[in-house]
Amino acid sequence: MTPSGKCYGHGHAHPASYAASLEGVDFEKMWRELAPVGRYDATGGYRRYAYTPAELECRAWFREQAVQRGLDVETDRNGNMWAWWGDPSAGGAIATGSHLDSVPDGGAYDGPLGVVSAFAAIDLLRANGFTPSRPIAVAAFAEEEGARFGIACLGSRLLAGAITPEAARALKDDDGVTFADAMSAAGFDPDGIGEDNERLSRISAYVELHIEQGRAQIDMDAPVAVGTSIWPHGRWRMEFTGRADHAGTTRLDDRADPMLTYANTVLAARKKARLAGAVATVGRIACEPNGTNAIPSRVRAWLDARATELSALDETLDGLKEATLARAERDGTEVSFTQESYSPEVIFDADLRQRVSRAVGSPMELSTGAGHDAGVLSARMPTAMLFVRNPTGISHAPNEFAHMDDCITGAHALADALKELAT
Ligand code: GLV
Ligand code: MN
Ligand code: MN
Repeated sequence: MTPSGKCYGHGHAHPASYAASLEGVDFEKMWRELAPVGRYDATGGYRRYAYTPAELECRAWFREQAVQRGLDVETDRNGNMWAWWGDPSAGGAIATGSHLDSVPDGGAYDGPLGVVSAFAAIDLLRANGFTPSRPIAVAAFAEEEGARFGIACLGSRLLAGAITPEAARALKDDDGVTFADAMSAAGFDPDGIGEDNERLSRISAYVELHIEQGRAQIDMDAPVAVGTSIWPHGRWRMEFTGRADHAGTTRLDDRADPMLTYANTVLAARKKARLAGAVATVGRIACEPNGTNAIPSRVRAWLDARATELSALDETLDGLKEATLARAERDGTEVSFTQESYSPEVIFDADLRQRVSRAVGSPMELSTGAGHDAGVLSARMPTAMLFVRNPTGISHAPNEFAHMDDCITGAHALADALKELAT
């Protein structure tokens, strides 16, 4: 029960007593300690890629937070970190947390807010004298963004058996380093990765708190919202192959320029998505040989597409492929689409969602176009999400933000949810 009578749903103002009731719980200190790790000064964004020094420093921060609280900390076979309040073998645990890795030049909140809030929620529960009747675990999932190896939620996918160990080990980063080699280099054993039923069987539910990644909560005037669903989402790698040649001497009619086919594909993706009621984005490209005075031999680009309905996603892709093939024929180029991930809609467990909503005072509900470990894990256990308002509405970019008041309101909401589930 919060001092306000649990009304997280409306209003910018919230009682000063929230902050006061955080006594002994230093959210800002945790935040301050993590803030410099992996921050890239030139942009103000974060580069915390899986198994790089910055991400390993985030792991050390997590370990330190657990140790300071007397929580047992461990890293599972898939590189996900866990901090336990209570005996993991007791079973029926309630897990909470998020991830610490980032997209290129990502914001400070996507991932870390859920982990910091999880530790803060435990502090709040303890400060209030609460003793859980089942274990509570704080998790930090590995390579959630897929920023280094291309597949989002890789740690939770491996845990849940949603990707084979062989496929994961073979994934490569932009420098050609495999996931297996990156794990080894960071001191982890890639031979051990894969579905972990023993661990899953110890957990009865997962609740992830996350920064809101759009403008819905600004519009709803809600510092905290409860997740209802995650949109269908897919990622494709596209390769456009042509013929390298001289930029000055090659007649236009003699060219096989993959950049043209690529450029047309970007515009077509936007148009097909608009017509289907989806969103589609090309945010990552690589051009070979990447010379100013040469027609490229190859362009690689990655498409991210999402929609509220799977049919709209499929319609976007079908239309795009057709347009791209037709354009490639005109350009004398070749094109391939390789699906890197494809995730149907996730609807969060109705019963868990209701319990969480009730515990946090029936706040606003939100369906999200962003992907989360809570979505992957929903195939294996009931999952739920809480969102904290982001006044910029911007995410996956340095301007992602949350007011400290809202963060603290979120930590209270998470504590209330954990209390409800672990009583
Ligand atoms: C992960 O944050 C995603 O939505 O891509
Ligand atoms: Mn995230
Ligand atoms: Mn993200």
